Amino acid sequence: MSGDGWAEVKSGDPGYLDGVYSDDALTTQTDDKGIPNSSSSAPSLMLAMLDALDVRPGDTVFELGTGTGYNAALLCARLGAERVVSVDVDARLVEAARDRLAELGYFPTLAAGDGAAGYPEKAPYDRLIATARLRHVPRAFLEQSAEGAVMVVPLGFGVARLTVNGTGQAHGRFLPLPAYFMPRRVDAAPPRFAELETQEARSTSLDVAGVLDRLSFPMSLAMPDYTSCTWMDDDGAPNAIGLWTGDGSTATATMTGKVRQVGPRRLWEELEQLAVTFGDIDRVAREDFGITVTPDGQRVWYGTEDGPFWALSGE
Ligand SMILES: C[S@@+](CC[C@H](N)C(=O)[O-])C[C@H]1O[C@@H](n2cnc3c(N)ncnc32)[C@H](O)[C@@H]1O
Repeated sequence: MSGDGWAEVKSGDPGYLDGVYSDDALTTQTDDKGIPNSSSSAPSLMLAMLDALDVRPGDTVFELGTGTGYNAALLCARLGAERVVSVDVDARLVEAARDRLAELGYFPTLAAGDGAAGYPEKAPYDRLIATARLRHVPRAFLEQSAEGAVMVVPLGFGVARLTVNGTGQAHGRFLPLPAYFMPRRVDAAPPRFAELETQEARSTSLDVAGVLDRLSFPMSLAMPDYTSCTWMDDDGAPNAIGLWTGDGSTATATMTGKVRQVGPRRLWEELEQLAVTFGDIDRVAREDFGITVTPDGQRVWYGTEDGPFWALSGE
């Protein structure tokens, strides 16, 4: 990224091959506002997710998020293209991936649409993988799973690996991997900072400077679509943070502990509650979290299934 936006690097340009062969996520498309909306994930993360997916010869696989088609190509090489289905919400990406895969001699089933609906025509699947961040395990994933199917799904800033059992339930744990996938595309309300200016502030005893870093993973589960920002003073020192979710709930906190909030959710209170749950734990480890999906609902839990939990909701 250059100072004033993204610079396109094409095949043959200086640095192109270094980028392609680096273990970095590569932005492959931006929207009309210049915000990235498709990327090729870091190869080490793709491989760790494929490793967790544990495909076996003869398995059929569904992928949400075709993107460049690279992950689909790896699946085709391993299983045969006739066993691979991949869906991306962006029809142009699907067509570009189709051409690339065809050049390699791979002709998997590719479709444009919301991958959260799966692809029932080719179900049931033995393996299901999402390569965009989801808010919960899509119901269609369960409905289109074979018994014993494995799902690998980015939720919050982590990746859950679940096994489906014969009663419409799935259970699993999070991998010990940090993962910052692009969210599944949905409309979101902007933050309501202007409304906060007229509000009375209350005090918080949280360490405002450090709390977002320390609790970012549980926050990403409890407030799946949260966004945050930091304001700096003229000397470049942080003086306040902002926090908001897609329903317009917004909170700000100054480094001196003054909090203002607006909207249907009291985000700062939720953060204070997480701070109580995780007490003095410095490193909140992803692998200590698990997930349970039943026809009645989905929850992510900490430690054990009857430990602290957060319900996952929203299509
Ligand atoms: C990290 S990229 C996928 C990388 C891809 N697997 C690859 O190998 O290049 C995430 C992709 O998810 C897609 N996506 C986002 N929301 C989606 C949805 N609801 N259904 C299907 N695809 C979606 C985006 O268009 C984007 O291409």
